[in-house]
Amino acid sequence: MKLTIAVLAGDGIGPEVTQEATAILSVVADLGGHQFSFVPGLIGGVAITATGSPLPAATLDLSLDADAVFLGAVGDQTFASLPPAKRPEAGLLQIRQALGGFANLRPSVAYAALSGNSPLRPEVTEGADILFVRELLGGLYFGAPRWWDKTSSANGGGEAINTMRYTRDEVARVARVAFELARKRRKKVTSVDKANVLEVSQLWRATVTEIARDYPEITLEHQLVDSMAMHLMNIPRNFDVVLTENLFGDILSDEAAVITGSLGMLPSATIGGTVNLYEPVHGSGPDIAGTGRANPLGAILTAAMVLRHSADLEAEALAIEAAVQRVLSEGYRTADLARVSSAGGASSALPVVSTREMGKLVQQALTEATDRRQSMHAV
Ligand code: IPM
Ligand code: MN
Repeated sequence: MKLTIAVLAGDGIGPEVTQEATAILSVVADLGGHQFSFVPGLIGGVAITATGSPLPAATLDLSLDADAVFLGAVGDQTFASLPPAKRPEAGLLQIRQALGGFANLRPSVAYAALSGNSPLRPEVTEGADILFVRELLGGLYFGAPRWWDKTSSANGGGEAINTMRYTRDEVARVARVAFELARKRRKKVTSVDKANVLEVSQLWRATVTEIARDYPEITLEHQLVDSMAMHLMNIPRNFDVVLTENLFGDILSDEAAVITGSLGMLPSATIGGTVNLYEPVHGSGPDIAGTGRANPLGAILTAAMVLRHSADLEAEALAIEAAVQRVLSEGYRTADLARVSSAGGASSALPVVSTREMGKLVQQALTEATDRRQSMHAV
């Protein structure tokens, strides 16, 4: 199969982890006789430096022309004093909006081999396998009015506003994605809101409840976001698909990284628009950029999601995920995973590998598993 992927590596550790994601995709292409081509583009701080804009028109064009967009990370403290609309992050928000994907899928899985990495006890994280479905184009991120006019006379510039706004249709379409995905999983949707305080959340809850009628086989529960934040750490295995508005999902998906042991493990895919957008959940990690200490597994698992959601190559996606599990169970760790919580016992025996070495180990595991499968078929 042929696939053109726009590759927007971005800032900080973005290029290092993206390199390992495209490398694993190239291995899949070689093994399966697929043609994947990668078209690079600028986004974020590197784009501001080169062109003055966090999302240059050329990047948008090549992204809209691609079959999938892979984004490494954006964020650079150099631009911290700029208003939100001019910062590197604005490039990300603009491309999300332009591509139109409204359902951001963020799986959070407790890998057995990493059970000692979470500060939570292994018996708490064991078996946790959560899929966040985060609404990505609405809520406080995009609602109007929004301003902080520091020069305005209103309260001497000491007033700012953002707006949480949703329409029924915006809630309904992302709710349908959550219910469809729950069908293929453990058939439970937990919808998160703040319906005891916010009108927007009351609309959210009413709409989700209404959509649920089309999915009688799915169990729907509602959770208020504050108590959800607690339950997530108390009994993570109670959750299957978790449906949230934009900001709640941003916060809870970072919290859920605690279950996996590291934010560096989390992949994401944004679907429902004209072109799907794939990004690891972690940020640009400016403190470790260029040191070879970044964990590429979030990006590699994101590459698996590209195959699953943009190429219909489910077996290949599963094979990448299995290769990651195998390398972890052999004890290889990037720096972020080398620290093991006291609950997990001694950590000194685990070999710490660089970003590049971890990428290579996963490539090797994938190639070996594929060779083994092929020789079994040949018998
Ligand atoms: C994420 C990030 C982004 C977000 C930032 C960088 C704009 O935190 O993808 O979770 O808030 O959506
Ligand atoms: Mn975030």
